[in-house]
Amino acid sequence: MTDDLVRLEDYAPAAYTVTHTDLVFHLHPSATQVEARLQLVRQGSSDTMQFNGVGLTLKSIAVDGKPLAAEQYHYADDMLVVSGLPERCELHTVVTIDPSANTALEGLYMSNGMYCTQCEAEGFRRITFFPDRPDVLSRYTVTLWAEQAAYPLLLANGNLVAEGKEGTQHWAKWEDPYPKPSYLFAVVAGDLACLASSYTTAEGRDVALKIYAEERDLPKLEHAMASLKASMAWDEKVYGLSYDLDLYMVVAVSHFNLGAMENKGLNIFNTACVLAHQDTTTDQGFQRVEAVIGHEYFHNWSGNRVTCRDWFQLSLKEGFTVFREQRFCEDSNDAAVKRVEDVKLLKATQFPEDQGPLAHPVLPSSYRDIDNFYTATTYEKGAELVRMQWELLGEEAFLRGADLFFTRFDGQAVTVEDFIACMEEAGGRSLQQFKRWYTQAGTPHLTVTDSYAEGVYTLTVTQHTAPTPGQPHKAPYVIPLRMALLDGNGAPVALDEAGSEECVWEITEGTESRSWALAEKPTPSLLRRFSAPVALHYDYSVAQLVALVQNDTDGYVRWEAAQQLYHRAIVDNDTALVEPLVALAQQLLAEAKGQEALTALLLQLPSVNELGAALNPVDYHALHARRQALAAAMGKALVPAWQACVLPADKAAYAVDVARVGRRDLQRVALQYLTAAEAEGLDAQLQRLYEQADNMTERADALRLLWHQQGVGAEAMLAAAYTAALPEPLVMDMWFAVQATRPAADTVEQVAALLQHEQFEWTSPNRVRAVLGQFGQHNPVAFHREDGAGYALWCEGVARLDVLNPQMAARLLSAVMGIQRLPSPQRQLLVQHLEQLGQGKLSKQSRDVLTQLLAPAA
Ligand code: BES
Ligand code: ZN
Repeated sequence: MTDDLVRLEDYAPAAYTVTHTDLVFHLHPSATQVEARLQLVRQGSSDTMQFNGVGLTLKSIAVDGKPLAAEQYHYADDMLVVSGLPERCELHTVVTIDPSANTALEGLYMSNGMYCTQCEAEGFRRITFFPDRPDVLSRYTVTLWAEQAAYPLLLANGNLVAEGKEGTQHWAKWEDPYPKPSYLFAVVAGDLACLASSYTTAEGRDVALKIYAEERDLPKLEHAMASLKASMAWDEKVYGLSYDLDLYMVVAVSHFNLGAMENKGLNIFNTACVLAHQDTTTDQGFQRVEAVIGHEYFHNWSGNRVTCRDWFQLSLKEGFTVFREQRFCEDSNDAAVKRVEDVKLLKATQFPEDQGPLAHPVLPSSYRDIDNFYTATTYEKGAELVRMQWELLGEEAFLRGADLFFTRFDGQAVTVEDFIACMEEAGGRSLQQFKRWYTQAGTPHLTVTDSYAEGVYTLTVTQHTAPTPGQPHKAPYVIPLRMALLDGNGAPVALDEAGSEECVWEITEGTESRSWALAEKPTPSLLRRFSAPVALHYDYSVAQLVALVQNDTDGYVRWEAAQQLYHRAIVDNDTALVEPLVALAQQLLAEAKGQEALTALLLQLPSVNELGAALNPVDYHALHARRQALAAAMGKALVPAWQACVLPADKAAYAVDVARVGRRDLQRVALQYLTAAEAEGLDAQLQRLYEQADNMTERADALRLLWHQQGVGAEAMLAAAYTAALPEPLVMDMWFAVQATRPAADTVEQVAALLQHEQFEWTSPNRVRAVLGQFGQHNPVAFHREDGAGYALWCEGVARLDVLNPQMAARLLSAVMGIQRLPSPQRQLLVQHLEQLGQGKLSKQSRDVLTQLLAPAA
């Protein structure tokens, strides 16, 4: 067997670099011709150069105008090797490709009759022969030819420099002045409408902003445009970074494997991450659009102007950009709420990854398939590592470090090491021990104990990280523990002479202690703002937890204390907690005004997945039953208070601002409790909400609650929702997802039927995610059905998808990373089905994930 492991230690620059890349596309659905002229310059001593190429039909090849004889090149195993090259030369190739047969959606493909591309990480090699690696930076000139009637719009990166027509064909020539790696290349050709606007940079330069979508979606682009302008202003204000071209384009496409892609000057977006309208999009959808628009915009500097040397450094651009996006959203929404939402995501997705067979360091040392490293660890944990540097240095020094990084490495392909060196320089401190966060996998556990005697309060912290695959021993981390100490009234006490009420305790050893002279034993408020991605253990009393939820000034600490209470009530089945929880909920509701969003987060019971994330073994059915019982008890005890959260039908009022989104969040949580309590008249109330709502947020809430509860009128509402969804694919996705997530055993049969539905499409990633993705990731009750029927259905679906779209199939597969923590009969069933899946034909990507999933636990 060939060992196709890629190792960080084997990194070496390419033999030649490509200073200029000139491409001419003759677009044709099944036979697009790509002509490439690469200006090559030798970088070392070798005269042999390797060019990646996947699925290309080579028509001609020449060097400096001379066609190569058969013995002068070799194309096999996705690699073109050319020897005897001069120090400087031009490689000229002509290839053909078939975009209409491309269901993998990598490289050049078609979506609803338009051409588009996705090149990250290794898609460019499906377009032309090229050293498809991020450290080869090249200037691109791109000419697109196509039938004018069908494809009136021809787009590529950079600036339009010339256009013309010949017969029924027309052409456009684009030039990108900024050297870029091939993964940032993009072209689009189609018949699209455009929302145009402009932005004036801090230096007074006008930038044309253009968002393209199908004509019927034009009314859904305003929010994305506003978010884009806000992102541009934020990066100027906070990082001092302005946009660098005269044109910024965003194109919405229906068929897209991911959320969006930051191609230079020409972002390509999944429609789900750019279209937003009150009739079709929920509040969470609006917030997602803002975040993704921001994220891809911020990449223009963190990723595009300064890029990655190799794919091991992926988190250099993704972790940093997620952090920038998070801070942007904190600034434009309620910061504490946004922080809690980000932590929720980290704990629900990354913590389980760190405990399972797919655990890997943020900076891995080897990989088989880079597509499988676009994980919660690379993104969300990567962002936390950048955030910790911000915590350790403080905002001002951190921003100086970022400025140094962008100035020093502008136009280069660099490493995480380079980033940290800038932070060390700006912070005037060493981050050598800190680097362990990048190279060690696993979630550190911090156990905190305390004592109080003779006026001295002592906190002792011990850190421990369990082994992960390939890493049996872990050295201690530097952990910024942001903390306060609260007195009996919940007020912070002074921690030093200067009277500071909060500090960042920098822990570096396995065990450390600190003492304070205090008049009484305080309650510690720990890991404020979630200052480090650790699992923290301190043995709080119920009274202390209640007090933290009520009084702490840190949103994260309040939320975490509430989670502990719910956890004890549900996981430990501590029914004595119902009473204090009811009292707490009553008080939170009484004080909700003006902080509805945070209140909603504090009152929302953790999902079954969140409850199970840290359990071993995990019994999802028991968790679901107990969670429902707690919701019913808390619901019944406070019916009038929950009802008071239900909003009056107020037609003119829809807007997506912090206050109104918060009120709808709280209404949703209240309706969940009332539904669990089977409150009188609730089914009719949900029907009224569905009929009278002027927005998708409330309609989707009503439908989900009534359908999941199978309340009176549920079938009729689902039918009405179907009719309403017919002209709107993104709404139809929701219609599918609502059914795929109903937590009941017979959902398995329903999902089987949905996969046969006339509106189901295996070639649409959004539709597949809405059904198989939601079922596998957000319906543990049905997925883990005791007879294994959920596994069987899901594995069949993954196998079928893998033939069409390996990247999607591999991503779906990675969601069962909790496999080792399932109780024994279920684990065996799932393993059986996965093994069966492995006996069939599988793509390299899916095989890579499956092998790791089934590897014996370390
Ligand atoms: N560069 C990525 C897109 C990407 C992801 C390319 C995976 C290749 C493989 C882009 O910047 C990104 O991270 N998109 C995210 C959304 C973002 C808001 C976290 C996505 O597509 O999910
Ligand atoms: Zn990104």
